[in-house]
Amino acid sequence: MMSNNLPSIIEMIETLALISEDKDFLTRRYLTSQHKKVNQLVADWMSVAGMKAWQDPIGNIVGRYEGHENGLPALMLGSHLDTVVNAGKYDGMLGVVTAIHCVASLQRQGKRLPFAVEVIGFADEEGTRFKSTYLGSKAVAGTFDLDTLDRLDSDGISMKEALNTFGLDIKNIPQAARSKNEIAAYVELHIEQGPVLEDKNLAAGIVTEIAGATRLSVEIVGKAGHAGTVPLNLRQDALVTASECIVKLEKIAKASANTVVTVGEILIKPGASNVIPGNAQFTVDLRSTENSVRTKVENEIQQALQEICTKRKTKLITTKTHSAESTICSKNVINQLDDAFVKSGHPTYFLPSGAGHDTAAMSDLTETGMIFLRCREGISHNPAESVKMGDIEVGFQIMLKFIENFKPL
Ligand code: GLV
Ligand code: MN
Ligand code: MN
Repeated sequence: MMSNNLPSIIEMIETLALISEDKDFLTRRYLTSQHKKVNQLVADWMSVAGMKAWQDPIGNIVGRYEGHENGLPALMLGSHLDTVVNAGKYDGMLGVVTAIHCVASLQRQGKRLPFAVEVIGFADEEGTRFKSTYLGSKAVAGTFDLDTLDRLDSDGISMKEALNTFGLDIKNIPQAARSKNEIAAYVELHIEQGPVLEDKNLAAGIVTEIAGATRLSVEIVGKAGHAGTVPLNLRQDALVTASECIVKLEKIAKASANTVVTVGEILIKPGASNVIPGNAQFTVDLRSTENSVRTKVENEIQQALQEICTKRKTKLITTKTHSAESTICSKNVINQLDDAFVKSGHPTYFLPSGAGHDTAAMSDLTETGMIFLRCREGISHNPAESVKMGDIEVGFQIMLKFIENFKPL
């Protein structure tokens, strides 16, 4: 896997893992100085691998390796370079650096193909900073919603301001969109983030579909008051209301097949031991592979939250911050991935993705497919994320085989 003067895949992963906003753990949000640093580093690696590299107007980093002649439609490979808070080091990054190594291998062999190969490091897939996901891939797919520019981060900085500070001009964002003629397909290698491949004793699998997701931001407005004087039956406690809501959400999701719900963030105000909480804000992340089920559960959730708030005399404010339909990967790409697995001597195994991926946004633009790699105990969004070196090599071999045999659709 060593080629040219490039660091190895694992060396790249270790290097990227050190570029963090927090010195004690890995957090790298969109449009931070760490994002800028990573883009520069990845652009350098792309150049060494024989690509022309540039940063697009939303902050994605892109590299292009021409085919038999300049300007041919591209097979695009990649994943994201941003992270959740206290992240693992493989989620996203592994797909980008493996793709760079595949191109480096083509360059080393002096091989040009009847299509171009592009590698992309998406700027924001996780939505950690502005609570809106797939920002990088939506811009490329031409589905970026300009209203997102007014979203604020936790410090009150708007996305518009952050882009400006980063050195990007919002007027140019539409130019990040690529045309259907330019991109023949998008293929992403990613860790599974779940336990299925490990359970099957397999290094890699092919993704059939990506679960849809809805994210809500919920605010419950009660009344702050003295913890010693207000009798329990006269309170409008926002936290007790939120607690009942959260337990109810779990009950609703459990009653529906293939559905999960998570409350991952909660903020209580004013936040003192002797003050009745007057305000509670929490997030809801709802996923299902069936769009109709997700819509049904979302309606049930909205209704249940309202009933609980009415009963507890608190006010409910909900905002939908994200909604993505479930996505079926392209049959044609899946078949070509299947061939690549067989040709590189690996059993084919098909599985759905419960996690969201840039592939979902890219499916609005082009044909898509994904390779999943086994990760230890299925752990992800956690610094304990771990992938075996041998499995990384398997992923690299399958992806290279896929590229070398790829037939534009
Ligand atoms: C992305 O990692 C997601 O939340 O699915
Ligand atoms: Mn993730
Ligand atoms: Mn990811």
